[in-house]
Amino acid sequence: MRTSLLFLLLVSTQIINSITSEAQTKKSVNIIPKPARLISSEGTFLLENSTRFVFSEGVENKKVLVGYLSDQIYELAGLRISKKISNKLSSANVISFKPVQDKNWGNEEYELAIDNKGVLIKAKSARGFFYGIQSFLQLIPLQGAPEVPFVKILDEPRYQYRGMHLDVCRHFFSVGFIKKYIDLMAMYKMNTFHWHLTEDQGWRIEIKKYPKLTEVGAWRTEKDGSRYGGFYTQEQIKEVVAYAADRFITVIPEIELPGHSVAALAAYPELACNEGPFEVENEWGVFDDVYCAGKESTFEFLQNVMLEVIELFPSKYIHIGGDECPKASWKKCPLCQKRIKEEGLKDEHELQSYFIQRMEKFLLTKNRKIIGWDEILEGGLAPEATVMSWRGIKGGIEAAKQHHDVIMTPGTHCYFDHYQDVDYIEPTAIGGFSSLEKVYSFEPTPAELSEMEAKHILGAQGNVWTEYMHTSDRVEYMVAPRICALAEVVWSRKSQRNWNDFKSRMNHHYALLHKKSINVFVRAPHGGVNKNFFFNRMSLPLEIDSEHTIIRYTLDGSDPDNYSAVYKEAIELNSTTTVKAQSFHESGAKSKIRSIECIKIEPLQSETRTELNEDLKYKVLKGKFASIHDVIEDEVVNCGIVEGLKFPENIEAEFYAVEITGYLKIDENATYTFFNYSIDPALFSIGEHLVIESDGLNSRHQRRGRIYLKQGLYPIRMLLLKNTPYANQKLTWCSKFFDQTIIPSSHLSH
Ligand code: ACM
Ligand code: ZN
Repeated sequence: MRTSLLFLLLVSTQIINSITSEAQTKKSVNIIPKPARLISSEGTFLLENSTRFVFSEGVENKKVLVGYLSDQIYELAGLRISKKISNKLSSANVISFKPVQDKNWGNEEYELAIDNKGVLIKAKSARGFFYGIQSFLQLIPLQGAPEVPFVKILDEPRYQYRGMHLDVCRHFFSVGFIKKYIDLMAMYKMNTFHWHLTEDQGWRIEIKKYPKLTEVGAWRTEKDGSRYGGFYTQEQIKEVVAYAADRFITVIPEIELPGHSVAALAAYPELACNEGPFEVENEWGVFDDVYCAGKESTFEFLQNVMLEVIELFPSKYIHIGGDECPKASWKKCPLCQKRIKEEGLKDEHELQSYFIQRMEKFLLTKNRKIIGWDEILEGGLAPEATVMSWRGIKGGIEAAKQHHDVIMTPGTHCYFDHYQDVDYIEPTAIGGFSSLEKVYSFEPTPAELSEMEAKHILGAQGNVWTEYMHTSDRVEYMVAPRICALAEVVWSRKSQRNWNDFKSRMNHHYALLHKKSINVFVRAPHGGVNKNFFFNRMSLPLEIDSEHTIIRYTLDGSDPDNYSAVYKEAIELNSTTTVKAQSFHESGAKSKIRSIECIKIEPLQSETRTELNEDLKYKVLKGKFASIHDVIEDEVVNCGIVEGLKFPENIEAEFYAVEITGYLKIDENATYTFFNYSIDPALFSIGEHLVIESDGLNSRHQRRGRIYLKQGLYPIRMLLLKNTPYANQKLTWCSKFFDQTIIPSSHLSH
């Protein structure tokens, strides 16, 4: 941060105030992202209906700022402050705005001072004022009198690019929700909305020259025969862009090329290498059908699309995708091969680079720069491209070393479609694990970059792919509160980041997000497993997450509410019961309800067989089954012996179900826990007891089941589906302790 006279003044005041302020700061100032400089002192200013807005000469966008601020104050404190702007510098009970001319001030910089006269925000630009407003709003108490604490803040961001992405193609979201998403970003001073508008599963932006893109490309037939889709008209897009601009958020559209383009090919099959026909995809993945790089008509089409896109989006950047483009079609296509030869390209990677560079060249003539996912490094970077590093930070490092700008969005920390809590409790997500703490720990500027190279790291972004987010409620659940952690990563200085301090400030933000009707994620109670077969009695211990949450539970199958029992100690059960447990945060925000089945059984009778063979038996049932309940027994294509509970090797069919049967030998009486990590559906039973049932299409998670078994031999059955290319199943077990091991073949037979 720049050193100014103001800053020095602040520092000297701080010395005087620091002793008195510490205790109070902790109580009442909970700003996220943490400001660069903050001094609080004792005392509060009471907001009233009679408080007035005062603007000095020279403040831009007055109307927008006042409209926003006044609406927010009403929402948070129920006060109706007049939107009338005064420029009389009255002495008290005011929220005043004063422009700063100092050329050393940054565009996003602001000062916020609250004392007994009222609130004073200083900035050089409307954007700076807006961020001052955001910090001020976070100081308004959500309960009791609207007294804002005395503070002096001097603040500006660490990074210029502070982004959030949203995929509206895998699932479609209304304009109303897009605005809510933008409002959420604005609260945390994020300034760029990356709008992922085209995909294999849907084209979501109206292009007047090519109406079939939305007539055909915006709609898919789901596996159950229903139609799913939607798109934004150009009018709606303009509305969103303007709404975002009023919140100082730039919208960057992403038009994917050359891959992830099946929806466009369904509308205009002549743009592909082969004839098609194509259908808008109804499953997730990466597909071989992409734009033909050999046809001139492909470029003509994409340029025409871009001409309409740039009319709608004033952003200096256009995102052209560039990720996950298989080269299979290009390898077989005579036109693509001809292009490779004529252009003197080495291979299909260089053909992809040719594709991107051609689009860049076109967009540069329109004064726009491209951003692409890090695959655009392969085959050579387009000369002025900015790289979005998603497959880790490696691509970002490489690009920065080549003096290209970089936005960091590594899957390890910035993918908000990953699990944020243990996957045996959470609703299905795409895999991976990025807890709030992990997001908070992210450092966008890699240590190995020189000072000059590091300047190319423009910032970071949270990515929200919506394969497993069918509703806007679920999007909110995956984004909040992780957006708070990311906001602090990209705004606050590295030296200021402190997890415990952040966590304590977060408490106010659960309340704020809840107040804003954001479906904020709260950790569901941990402890035990969701399916239990117990003998005699069982004890179910749960874990309380923090001093700000309690667990409420029921034993009669009803959903917990404010009157349900509060969890204090392990729940003791001696009959079959469904326990429903939920975390209640003091803000009113709640976790999802965890349903724990506890089934009382008599121990299974051991089998008395002596003639046993090693390994297990399997049979393969051909077909693409969406659910374990759909498996039809009469299409056996293959059978044999398999060494463990896993997919047998060398099965010819692409999609199938495998039924594995045999016996499990148990050496000692104990409660055993089974863990199944599954992408496609699976079930596992011992005797008549269904210990694990993991159903649903294309899921990716762990499920756990627990059963009391006496020493002996028990029949087992596992049904595994393979209905995606990635199917993968792993069944592990353990006794008493959580040391998960694959069931040893010494314990399996048939
Ligand atoms: C990506 O996640 N395919 C950029
Ligand atoms: Zn081709």
